[in-house]
Amino acid sequence: MRLLLLLFLLLPRLRAQSTSEARSLDAILQEYAYRALVRPTTGTIYNATSELASNLTGIKVGALRLRSGSLRRRGVHSYNEFEIPRGVIEKPYVKRVVLVYQNLGNWSHRYYPLPNYTYLAPVLGLLAYNGTNLSATNLSTLNVTASLDPIRVKFNHVKDPPLGAVARCVYFDLLGSSNFTNLTGANTCSTSTQGHFSIVVESSVLPPAPPPASPTPPALPPSGTSTKSSSKVGVIVGSVLGGLVLLLLLVLLLFWLPKYKQKKNIQRMERASEAGEALHMAAIGDIKAPAATVTRTQPALEHEYAP
Ligand SMILES: *[C@@H]1O[C@H](CO)[C@@H](O)[C@H](O)[C@H]1NC(C)=O
Ligand SMILES: *[C@@H]1O[C@H](CO)[C@@H](O)[C@H](O)[C@H]1NC(C)=O
Ligand SMILES: *[C@@H]1O[C@H](CO)[C@@H](O)[C@H](O)[C@H]1NC(C)=O
Ligand SMILES: *[C@@H]1O[C@H](CO)[C@@H](O)[C@H](O)[C@H]1NC(C)=O
Ligand SMILES: *[C@@H]1O[C@H](CO)[C@@H](O)[C@H](O)[C@H]1NC(C)=O
Ligand SMILES: *[C@@H]1O[C@H](CO)[C@@H](O)[C@H](O)[C@H]1NC(C)=O
Ligand SMILES: *[C@@H]1O[C@H](CO)[C@@H](O)[C@H](O)[C@H]1NC(C)=O
Ligand SMILES: *[C@@H]1O[C@H](CO)[C@@H](O)[C@H](O)[C@H]1NC(C)=O
Ligand SMILES: *[C@@H]1O[C@H](CO)[C@@H](O)[C@H](O)[C@H]1NC(C)=O
Ligand SMILES: *[C@@H]1O[C@H](CO)[C@@H](O)[C@H](O)[C@H]1NC(C)=O
Repeated sequence: MRLLLLLFLLLPRLRAQSTSEARSLDAILQEYAYRALVRPTTGTIYNATSELASNLTGIKVGALRLRSGSLRRRGVHSYNEFEIPRGVIEKPYVKRVVLVYQNLGNWSHRYYPLPNYTYLAPVLGLLAYNGTNLSATNLSTLNVTASLDPIRVKFNHVKDPPLGAVARCVYFDLLGSSNFTNLTGANTCSTSTQGHFSIVVESSVLPPAPPPASPTPPALPPSGTSTKSSSKVGVIVGSVLGGLVLLLLLVLLLFWLPKYKQKKNIQRMERASEAGEALHMAAIGDIKAPAATVTRTQPALEHEYAP
């Protein structure tokens, strides 16, 4: 009880701490992303993953530099998992904008702890920065608004939710609040702004003692085969269950058969005795008594053969 109370008292502080950790990670990743932009070509995606320090292994970072006007008029057809439509504007206005892509991989849970939920996909981030000075550090994020169509996040390797559970999109804003929305298509979430996104499922619906949330999608097969394998699992589970039921029936039958035979025998004997077939009755005076018709062992004197 006291432990629970302590946890409740600690929870807001934990959240605040993880929020500031997430913000400092944003700052670190922004620097790495900008370092990959050496005399960058506008509209080309730069992969900064290999430049990350070894204590960030598992995270992926990308950078894309655009003219603001190009972003607004044309959008970006495909920036890894993100589809940015036209009509996206940033605030305050900058001439050139850098969109930093983050894939937190197995670090998702560490930087974006979400009690009572399990990640089915890694946390992905899309953040916009002033792209005029590429050696700048500690930049503040720009506010991004999709004024026409929403930005779409198409997750690549999404684990199947457990049976009966509904996968939901989760959105983290830069102040650390989270919000849940419905998926807007197969493995797709929609957003009108920048931030961090993932797909989650409530843990309470999970079977007991699930392995700790470890969103490591790189090792997962593509979603097509994962649904196939889940149906295979369904077939296996179904046949095992069917087999068990059959076995149970067989065992019951085996137990019941001898009893049934015995019962039948007793019934037959009862019927027979009622019909007076089993034992011959002999009249001794006025009394009727059962009498054996044949004596199987002939009486003999024991001592006759004794030595
Ligand atoms: C970037 O490079 C890393 C390896 O350095 C690779 O695993 C990853 O798939 C590449 N692409 C993206 C979008 O991160
Ligand atoms: C990674 O290691 C560097 C030193 O090599 C350190 O400055 C940085 O804070 C570490 N980052 C994390 C996220 O642990
Ligand atoms: C993520 O995986 C890498 C190796 O792939 C490992 O070095 C790193 O410690 C893991 N991070 C966490 C938070 O488990
Ligand atoms: C998690 O679930 C438990 C039990 O349903 C509930 O008591 C607790 O408040 C939940 N925690 C959060 C942060 O929602
Ligand atoms: C963007 O960066 C450039 C160069 O550092 C600076 O001149 C400009 O004022 C910045 N724009 C905003 C909106 O901060
Ligand atoms: C860009 O930023 C760096 C680091 O803050 C600074 O030293 C440099 O003067 C800036 N350049 C311009 C053109 O603003
Ligand atoms: C980063 O910028 C914020 C304001 O945007 C400032 O409060 C903070 O001290 C800066 N940190 C560093 C390390 O420059
Ligand atoms: C950016 O958005 C935040 C929260 O949505 C708001 O507090 C802030 O004033 C906005 N900044 C600008 C420059 O619009
Ligand atoms: C969460 O989403 C709902 C519906 O879109 C919205 O009304 C609410 O303000 C959002 N909350 C936060 C903290 O963003
Ligand atoms: C989200 O989906 C559930 C069913 O999965 C539905 O009942 C609910 O109305 C949906 N919410 C919104 C905001 O569309």
